[in-house]
Amino acid sequence: MSEFATLHEIVKAAHRNLSPGAWDYLTGGADTETALLRNRMALDSLAFRPRVLNDVREIDLSTNVHGVNSRLPIILAPMGSLDALDPGGAMSVAKAAEDFGVVSYLSSVTRPGIEEIAAETTHDKVFQLYVRGDRDWIADIVNKAIDLGYIHFCLTVDVALYSRRERDLIKRYKPSGRARNNEGWEFQAGLNWDLVKWFKDTWDIPLIVKGIATAQDAALCVEHGVEVVYVSNHGGRQLDHGRGTIDMLPEIAKEVDGRAEIVVDGGFCRGADIVKAMARGADAVAIGKIQGLGLGADGQAGVHRVLELLEIEMNTVMGLLGLDRLDKLSEDFLEPAQPVVAPGVLSAFPFLNLPSQEY
Ligand SMILES: Cc1cc2nc3c(=O)[nH]c(=O)nc-3n(C[C@H](O)[C@H](O)[C@H](O)COP(=O)(O)O)c2cc1C
Repeated sequence: MSEFATLHEIVKAAHRNLSPGAWDYLTGGADTETALLRNRMALDSLAFRPRVLNDVREIDLSTNVHGVNSRLPIILAPMGSLDALDPGGAMSVAKAAEDFGVVSYLSSVTRPGIEEIAAETTHDKVFQLYVRGDRDWIADIVNKAIDLGYIHFCLTVDVALYSRRERDLIKRYKPSGRARNNEGWEFQAGLNWDLVKWFKDTWDIPLIVKGIATAQDAALCVEHGVEVVYVSNHGGRQLDHGRGTIDMLPEIAKEVDGRAEIVVDGGFCRGADIVKAMARGADAVAIGKIQGLGLGADGQAGVHRVLELLEIEMNTVMGLLGLDRLDKLSEDFLEPAQPVVAPGVLSAFPFLNLPSQEY
């Protein structure tokens, strides 16, 4: 098992291990990276309001995610091209999730694929699809996911067009998943609510719509019977200049009002960040970059250690907020505040001192 004592050490190890291209692919965003930075800015603009003198000897961080028990309210977000970060790629991530006890998502543009992951892991997992074909093409994949035992199906809808990731463009870096799956973008661009209706009319497997950023689209999800509203700006990797995702939560949680499960991601990489999302109405938080950094640092063991460290951090935050259970969190524990650091891709890790990279 990994010896890392802090998430800082994991980030440093990943920086050491990854090629400059893979590092920037993992940590970068779209265009000016304003959306990516806003994810952090929004999180850092919330202060805690702790309560004291509550018995917190036994803190329970477990919860129900997608209908199954989860050790933490954390999901491993779908990530393409994981094989660029670790030779085990998606298998290392899935095995870490299985071993630790959380749900993992498998992206359709990573390796190994849907069959191999199903054959070698037994935990609860979700398949996430980028649509690159017509309804028959989609139906084949949904039926396969159901046959293979994936518990939910996820459609990512914030990638109608592939964004301009300038770090990658400047380096002429092409992620492996993108190089392998670069046909059929018109199907992704043509996605609409009719397809969601067709999905719901055709299959019983619960549907997750990933990339919801407004109460209006959350309302349409609920109207269409979508089981999971996944609030996301793709980690700031798609539309630039949007809002930080934790700022989207209040209007979406109000609109959804318990009629669907709410997952959020975008910039969450410390235990305190996850606790803030839960206080704002999320049912679970997905992690992307910090998952990838764990993978880059030490493969399966690195992802496992990220989860352990997030658990330790969350446990500390909850205890110091005077809370022993996640369902006691509410907006009462949060207040708007001035951030104390300028937002940065890694501003949640102030002690890194990484050597800077040339462009
Ligand atoms: C390297 C990388 C690859 C990603 N690939 C996918 C993907 O294949 N499908 C998808 O729906 N989202 C993908 N995402 C977005 C993540 O699922 C998630 O929304 C985002 O990473 C959350 O923000 P965070 O990285 O700040 O935690 C990717 C993100 C990263 C960092």
